[in-house]
Amino acid sequence: MTQVLTNQATTAASGSPPSAPPSNADAMVSLRGVSKVYANGSKALIEVNLDIKRGDFLFVTGPSGSGKSTLLKLLYGEEHANDGDVIVDGHNLSTLRGDRLSHLRRRIGIVFQDYKLIPRRTVLENVAFVLWAQGMPRKEIHRRLQPALKMVGLAHKADCFPEQLSGGEQQRVSIARAIVSTPPILLADEPTGNLDPENSWQVIKILKKLNSVGITVIVTTHDESLIRLSNHPAVQLRNGYLYRPRQ
Ligand SMILES: Nc1ncnc2c1ncn2[C@@H]1O[C@H](COP(=O)(O)OP(=O)(O)OP(=O)(O)O)[C@@H](O)[C@H]1O
Ligand SMILES: [Mg+2]
Repeated sequence: MTQVLTNQATTAASGSPPSAPPSNADAMVSLRGVSKVYANGSKALIEVNLDIKRGDFLFVTGPSGSGKSTLLKLLYGEEHANDGDVIVDGHNLSTLRGDRLSHLRRRIGIVFQDYKLIPRRTVLENVAFVLWAQGMPRKEIHRRLQPALKMVGLAHKADCFPEQLSGGEQQRVSIARAIVSTPPILLADEPTGNLDPENSWQVIKILKKLNSVGITVIVTTHDESLIRLSNHPAVQLRNGYLYRPRQ
């Protein structure tokens, strides 16, 4: 179960600084006293503590500008925390750089709101690209492609180009691309932000299916109805502060 620990919002009232509890060795993701201030002074995250266990599915919700994307960026090392520890799959991202960071990133699947597919490549090539880039042998790449496309219901569109697909289909290609390297953790930043309710639910159902086979899934969304339908816990960010799961 997801655990949200002390929050600055509660400790500030007492006037004493928050003391972050020790990190949890079982957690897939563990944040301890994490703050992120961008170079222009924007405070995106403030003293965030959070544990996400292996195999959990967690929604991160909150208004625009509340820090959701920043939280995910810290998890895949796109940004670094100014304070605190960000531990993913046993690695402390606050200090990880170079090859060791690249290695961890290969174990993290990422899905974005705007899909980020390569326009002049087919669906199959888009999904294969990450494996080519990792130098995986051709045979192994081919062994993985069909199951990944099947998982998102797009095996029949393998030879299409992104512009020949609907938005929902493009997002499902981006999910196939994220999971083809069988990562233990999948991060999705507003994956349904550009989709209608039916396609949104289809995307969430695929993420639930991936979670049911053991992948830890963290999804940011504005969409409260999707959270209610999915029946998974949610934490909320507001002005950089993380609040407890709603019951
Ligand atoms: N590269 C950056 N440089 C400076 N400030 C930034 C940068 N990225 C984000 N911010 C600021 O950090 C805060 C959190 O931004 P973030 O993108 O994490 O919010 P969000 O919750 O994902 O919002 P949205 O729902 O609109 O995607 C905002 O105040 C934003 O302006
Ligand atoms: Mg965002």
